[in-house]
Amino acid sequence: MMRHLSALSCAILLAAAPAFGQSQIAPTPPMGWNSWNHFAEHVTDADVRSAADMMVSTGMRDAGYIYVNVDDTWQGKRDAQGVLHPNERFPDMKGLGDYIHSKGLKFGIYSSPGAKTCGGYEGSLGHEAQDAKMYAEWGVDFLKYDLCSFWDNRHQATAEHTNDPNAARDVMIAAYKKMGDALKATGRPILYSLCQYGVDQPWKWGPGVGAQMWRTTDDIDDTYGRMIAIGFSQAGLSKYAGPGRWNDPDMLEVGNGKMTTDEYKTHMSLWVILAAPLLAGNDLSKMTDIDKSILMNKDAIAIDQDPLGKQGDRLYQSADLDVWTKPLSNGRVAVGLFNRSWGERDVSVDLAEIGYNNGANLHDVWSQKDLGRRSDVFTATVPRHGVALLIVSK
Ligand code: GAL
Repeated sequence: MMRHLSALSCAILLAAAPAFGQSQIAPTPPMGWNSWNHFAEHVTDADVRSAADMMVSTGMRDAGYIYVNVDDTWQGKRDAQGVLHPNERFPDMKGLGDYIHSKGLKFGIYSSPGAKTCGGYEGSLGHEAQDAKMYAEWGVDFLKYDLCSFWDNRHQATAEHTNDPNAARDVMIAAYKKMGDALKATGRPILYSLCQYGVDQPWKWGPGVGAQMWRTTDDIDDTYGRMIAIGFSQAGLSKYAGPGRWNDPDMLEVGNGKMTTDEYKTHMSLWVILAAPLLAGNDLSKMTDIDKSILMNKDAIAIDQDPLGKQGDRLYQSADLDVWTKPLSNGRVAVGLFNRSWGERDVSVDLAEIGYNNGANLHDVWSQKDLGRRSDVFTATVPRHGVALLIVSK
């Protein structure tokens, strides 16, 4: 009897469990486009619809960029029942979601655990379940949840619990868990993306609050200095990533115009080696052929999206040079040979050191050329601020 009962309760539990798990929502790093880096607080419904159109016409969707995410500043006011309405720039969120879905894309939005978002719009504090339910009704597939005014709640917790050094961290984790639980309770698979700038090591508690990705740093901008400061600071985080849980060094700036082609190749190479979410942030109506060749390079995307789901890490660093590797499926390894100096440099990798004692086949991702079989040490001549990105196989 006991055995029957426990089998029955197991069956009930299994039936009650949501039909999706964390790793099923994001088995590989999420890819898409986000409005912030280009449109910032000026974004409108029309901008997002035309971005969705261009995700299709430029080939971005077919290259794997699926999410179309509206960032901050879509919100209007709450009514007497606490229902949050979008502002006049977003007349019909359900209609917008339907439009995005009709293009074979997914719909993302943005909120904050605080009372206000970073742009000063309505946050979700005290309305988590209500907002999550509304997102599900609108067909939302992705929520970016940005700390913003919740800094005040952290300070308040510290002031109220002077003997507890973890009070600010704990109140923040609880706030993120509240929304994670609310999203799960909707029954709709909604990817949960934490944005709190890496404060208190979210890679350690992100999965526990139901998140599939979490920002590891403060904001990126469209400069080489900021981009490499973020990208190369990710060393040591690889062990926290895997299917359904990704470190997020922030969105891509490729195509926004302030870096050189070699610098944007460095940006893309570093992000794919990091198994980072790839959220383009450019004006899709002004994509040049070079932007397209960087964002839609098939081999670079395949490194990011490799089914093994391993984040890469640093192998070697000197003053100007950085060598990073990422394990790939079928015994292959991606290698990034980075030159951070102001002049051309030779950058080398010892193939034996990365597991190929008897030589290996090399494929150059940016020139799209097979370099043939090599043994011992491979050296690339890399332009200033540039990279050689290789796929190495037996
Ligand atoms: C920042 C966030 C940015 C963007 C912005 C919107 O905190 O890191 O990615 O979302 O807020 O106000």
